[in-house]
Amino acid sequence: MRQRFHEFLPRTSHDDVARQEFVKSLRGFLSSRVMPGNQAIFSQRVEPAFRAAQGRPPADRAEVRRLMTAEPYYRFWSAMQRRSQELMWESVILPTERELPDLVQRARALAAKPGPGSLRLDPQMPLPRYHTEQDIHIQPGGYHAEWTADDVSGGALYEAGLQMYMADAWGPEGAFLGELLLRYLRQRWPEFRPRRILDMGCAVGNSTLPWARAFPDAEVHAIDVAAPVLRHGHARARSLGVPVHFSQQNAEATDFEPGSFDLVVSHIMLHETSLVALPRIFRESQRLLRPGGLMLHMDIPRGDTPFRQFMHDWESYNNNEGFARFMTGLDLRGVALEGGWAPDSVEVARTVAGLNAAQKNYTDADYAFAIVVGQRP
Ligand SMILES: C[S@@+](CC[C@H](N)C(=O)[O-])C[C@H]1O[C@@H](n2cnc3c(N)ncnc32)[C@H](O)[C@@H]1O
Repeated sequence: MRQRFHEFLPRTSHDDVARQEFVKSLRGFLSSRVMPGNQAIFSQRVEPAFRAAQGRPPADRAEVRRLMTAEPYYRFWSAMQRRSQELMWESVILPTERELPDLVQRARALAAKPGPGSLRLDPQMPLPRYHTEQDIHIQPGGYHAEWTADDVSGGALYEAGLQMYMADAWGPEGAFLGELLLRYLRQRWPEFRPRRILDMGCAVGNSTLPWARAFPDAEVHAIDVAAPVLRHGHARARSLGVPVHFSQQNAEATDFEPGSFDLVVSHIMLHETSLVALPRIFRESQRLLRPGGLMLHMDIPRGDTPFRQFMHDWESYNNNEGFARFMTGLDLRGVALEGGWAPDSVEVARTVAGLNAAQKNYTDADYAFAIVVGQRP
């Protein structure tokens, strides 16, 4: 499903499209034809040789990593994968840079008009170090860099890049994760009707909009630490006709009133934070919920075998997802307890994403997202 165009995405020329289609094909080829070869090399050659020498299989992902990073095939795939990520950004940066003054101008004009939805920025808010110390996904400037006044480029790039990164598998609005978590909520609590919803780490709001559409009577808030994604997200939501209140806030400590939400959600934010931030985010979620309110923090799969875990770690070592590998094997429920949740009110559930088309190297079971589920007593 191709990306749904809206007035805050940069227009693409024939050459831009050709470049982007090339990058998509390259990435598709790497993930469907080249990447699976790593598994074959490991299970047919590397693992048997190790077993013959040591009398046991590799104990953990660190041991698999030591073995596999010596393999020319893995090194070739890894270098190509990294290069394809760089090409991906180059292909979306070109049209965004060309149109940036106009995009900024239009977002500014829209933000000056009254609702629906709103945008509240806090230029004084300190950005967390885990956010600024690396360009996440090697997106130049990450989500937060301000290349120009009232910059929206971080958001425009993220939205276009996400579509390419996921090979269109997250739908025309990149809403897949919001829809997945919404489905989980509906299956488990079919009667639940939140009146106030908070989405933490919303970026451009791609996962927020399904919540706002599913519960049109609810007041929906979305926070992020990075202003450029929020400016873009706000303009985008208005342009798509969905009311959302965006504000620049750190999920570790927000300025919302205690007990002011029925539902607090996040989609793939946790793995971009830190070991110190995680318990704070769970504590803050509990503070924000009214009694009976629900917390649903969903994060990316980390793999079930040492080999799969090693492959997931690629993003940490090569794509500036510094913290992601520390989430592997982390006892998220234990972290939530550390954040003040009572043992009988929090658990970690899993939901199968079924994204095989995009992630051909994974089984459904391996590609299950973790959800930290809490219900405030
Ligand atoms: C991978 S993106 C996910 C965006 C979106 N939720 C989605 O589903 O595509 C993670 C987002 O979390 C934000 N983030 C990271 N740490 C945060 C924090 N402590 N408070 C608020 N947002 C945070 C980042 O700025 C980034 O926009």
